[in-house]
Amino acid sequence: MSDAMHRWDAGAEMMAHSVIGYAVERMRLRKDTTWGAVPPHVLADALAGAVCPDGIGGHEALRLFRDVLLPACRPQDDPMNLAYVPAAPSLAATAFDLLVSASSIFGGLWEAGAGAIAAENQALRWLADLAGYPAEAGGVFVSGGSAANLSALVTARHTHLAKYGRTRRLAIAATREVHASARAAARVMDVDVVEVETDGRGRMHGSALRAAIDRANDHTVFAVVATGGTTNAGMVDPLDEIAGVCDECDLWLHVDGAYGLAGLCAPSVRPAFAGIERSDSFGVDPHKWLFAPYDCAALVYRDPTLAAATHAQHGDYLDAVDRGEWNPADYAYHLSRRVRGLPLWFALATYGTDAFRDAVEHTVRTAHEFARAVQAHPGFDLLVEPTLSVVLFTCRGWTPQQYQQWSTAHARAGTVLMVPTRWHGTTCMRVCVVHPSTQSDQIIPFLNDMATWGVD
Ligand SMILES: Cc1ncc(COP(=O)(O)O)c(C=O)c1O
Repeated sequence: MSDAMHRWDAGAEMMAHSVIGYAVERMRLRKDTTWGAVPPHVLADALAGAVCPDGIGGHEALRLFRDVLLPACRPQDDPMNLAYVPAAPSLAATAFDLLVSASSIFGGLWEAGAGAIAAENQALRWLADLAGYPAEAGGVFVSGGSAANLSALVTARHTHLAKYGRTRRLAIAATREVHASARAAARVMDVDVVEVETDGRGRMHGSALRAAIDRANDHTVFAVVATGGTTNAGMVDPLDEIAGVCDECDLWLHVDGAYGLAGLCAPSVRPAFAGIERSDSFGVDPHKWLFAPYDCAALVYRDPTLAAATHAQHGDYLDAVDRGEWNPADYAYHLSRRVRGLPLWFALATYGTDAFRDAVEHTVRTAHEFARAVQAHPGFDLLVEPTLSVVLFTCRGWTPQQYQQWSTAHARAGTVLMVPTRWHGTTCMRVCVVHPSTQSDQIIPFLNDMATWGVD
């Protein structure tokens, strides 16, 4: 029967309850920290025959996922995962994500998804207010910081070309600390990157930006990508200084705050972002440090009409739609979209914004307590005073191989995930805290473990 996949019957009911039941179990029991990638042939063997003309049935497919596939994925939300930028979705946001899927909402156009879009916009407004943006600011939730950077920079270029036309090769200005996705966006756009020197903490200053623009006289710089929390070290560029240069030179200022701009809701670190209110656009990923599940990145424009002039898609069938209201499709490079901002909205409505403040503050405190312990320990050097929740430190006398070996041994044992990085050419250990359940007294003991590691 052709509607076999869409008929609600006893089998469908059981399948739905099994899937949701297991989702609840995953949330309650959390996970096993030894879960992680396995060789491709193991998964290929397990998956053999799963996609076949008659199907293997929901029961068997769920078993395969639960017993083989999910354990081959690292639990990003483990409080002992301190690598890269991990994840820490709240329980309300995670649960609500299931409902978003079940609700089948087209989030591209107001006429299709008005109720969901209104709620997403309320969450975006919270972020816009935190940044001090004007009432007319607005934006959209996209899949990630990479998509946010690209869409903002395409808007910046479109706005620049509409004003000035093209005379020379175009470029964005950024430091070497900018996230790789900004460079990737430049490649997609076929524009160059003018390199701005950094200070000792890896930050861009107004004077260095000015000098870089003057040096690049064979290019027209149309946008600056500043970072509100570098991924590697959690450093925040002095946005006010940068905004001053952008004002003088009529440059678009995009602040990539995929990781760090969550800090706007924490009074202890908020002053680091002074000047964000003068930017033209910013991105922040709630799936990083604002406790939403993947994939959820907020892109907010000071003047969203510039984004709509850039990104709105037209066509006979699309132009027949009443586009009078807010259409999220117009504010980034996409049309169809999941209303991926709704889990954040639900968590904000459920817990209140103070809970977000407290959770982010806790992670900042945890990271700073860990940094103090590093400083107090004779076997370690703190490489740079943390601004947000990333700590970089060296273990005296260690070779790069020792960092790697220690990291791998603990990842395999499932005790902690800390992954080394480099800072000014030196291999070091990096800790990134985004989970409010990570406690400093759980992670400080790893310093003694490192200090005595390999000593018989
Ligand atoms: C500062 C910054 N920008 C952009 C990105 C890319 O974000 P996504 O992985 O969500 O595309 C990251 C990811 O860690 C980031 O830290």
